[in-house]
Amino acid sequence: MKKLLIVANWKSNKTVREATEWLNKVLSIKYSTYAKASAGKQVLSNLEIVICPPYTLLHGFFNTKYQIPDTFKLGAQDVSPFPDGAYTGEISARMLKELDVTYVLIGHSERRKYFKEDEVMLENKVREALDVGLIPIFCIQDKTTPLPEEVKIIAYEPIFAIGSGEPDSPENANEVAKAYQERRGQETVVLYGGSVNQDNVMAFCQQANLSGVLVGGASLEPGKFSEIIHHVGKS
Ligand code: PGA
Repeated sequence: MKKLLIVANWKSNKTVREATEWLNKVLSIKYSTYAKASAGKQVLSNLEIVICPPYTLLHGFFNTKYQIPDTFKLGAQDVSPFPDGAYTGEISARMLKELDVTYVLIGHSERRKYFKEDEVMLENKVREALDVGLIPIFCIQDKTTPLPEEVKIIAYEPIFAIGSGEPDSPENANEVAKAYQERRGQETVVLYGGSVNQDNVMAFCQQANLSGVLVGGASLEPGKFSEIIHHVGKS
């Protein structure tokens, strides 16, 4: 059974109070869902759920009355292309590592568009992340997006599908995944992102070359996100 990744990208959303409410709801819904599943262990073992909140929420994110299953991991939405030093406003990879962050999103189209991140900067971000042991999830926008050599996990996120309610077709997403895997090796993990929700998530996860999803808008609502976890966990 292939392992599936569900990555929640909160973007610039949620205060500490809102995030605490979200976590408490998601963890309570999840437990009741799993309690009803007959093969509880199996339900958890094929899944990894990565929450990428804003930087302000990373410290103590999993500090809750609920026990956090190993299935849940923390991700950052970005990382500095520089090491520690005189780079006002930047958060270095080393700072993230200390906060139990496992993954880091790099190259999201919103970063490329609004913050003018180019290929050289993105390569530096990948290098900084890998130097401290963070795992980059590198976002590509189409079949031609350049990919730094060391990247092992890709998220295919066509710009037209982001926040539009119009996802790419699962078949086309699979084609893009296949094209990258032919170039980079079958072990390259490819996720799909762009208007994923509780109704379409399985169509993407069932594609042979896809190993999960990156979820923006639908990850903000605990009810919708729990449904996504539930569907994928059952598969
Ligand atoms: P969306 O965003 O799910 O709201 O389309 C996905 C993303 O930008 O990562």
